[in-house]
Amino acid sequence: MIKITTMVENTAPRAKLRAEHGLSVLVDTGYDKILFDTGQTDAIIHNAEVLNVDLSTIKNVVLSHGHYDHGGGLKYLLDIKTHLNVYAHPEIFRKRYSKAYGNSLRYIGIESREFYEQKGANFILDDKPIKIAENIYTTGFEPMVTDFESVDKNFVYETKDGYKKDDVPDDMSLVIETEKGVFVIFGCAHRGIINIIKHIENVFDKKVFGFIGGTHLGPASDFQREKTILELKKNKNLKIIGPSHCTGLLMGAKLYCEFDDKVIFNNVGTTIEI
Ligand SMILES: [Fe+2]
Ligand SMILES: [Fe+2]
Repeated sequence: MIKITTMVENTAPRAKLRAEHGLSVLVDTGYDKILFDTGQTDAIIHNAEVLNVDLSTIKNVVLSHGHYDHGGGLKYLLDIKTHLNVYAHPEIFRKRYSKAYGNSLRYIGIESREFYEQKGANFILDDKPIKIAENIYTTGFEPMVTDFESVDKNFVYETKDGYKKDDVPDDMSLVIETEKGVFVIFGCAHRGIINIIKHIENVFDKKVFGFIGGTHLGPASDFQREKTILELKKNKNLKIIGPSHCTGLLMGAKLYCEFDDKVIFNNVGTTIEI
């Protein structure tokens, strides 16, 4: 039995737990604990105390991509735990910005590689799927194959030739293999949840039976949202739909209307066992 606990998310339904725009999910296999993303601030430290999770026992962290709301908590973890293996895609340190906030560009990346290494991070970077623990892998690079999913148009990154559109090639999800099939944890799913599910089913040759995490359907177009729902409905293996983070409350409610008791609202403190 694998226990999955959401440590940081946009909504906290219980007293004392802290919510913030961000995501962090703890996967406990009974032998290993893996932290997938770290939220935006030190909320991870605060919520771990409230949830009675001992962060000092974690050796392996996976960062889904290099956005501040997923990697921002890493420096606070390194303050209490001076050696951590950090798994991610090689493009995670892009200097990235969003155009979504008026005229000025807003920095939405993480700190530099050197900053984290000085605090004790040991980076393992690969664009191929990486085995983190028994039955637990990253997706590696997620190809975009559908005609209705696209990366947020507001994202750019800094290069020596100026700013370029950022297709977030570093976006990766976490794959948990079980006898029932594959369970997925999305970070932000910037490259589209249907693309990611197709990629996983190709690479791991097993069906996806459930997911939690950020779907980025909140900021997506109505077209992408509707087509995504249609595709999810075609997937008869899907038993657990756990919208979080950049899905947004409205889209979460819409998914509940469409998928009824398959939906769990996955917020701070939610624990599921698979
Ligand atoms: Fe995010
Ligand atoms: Fe993101």
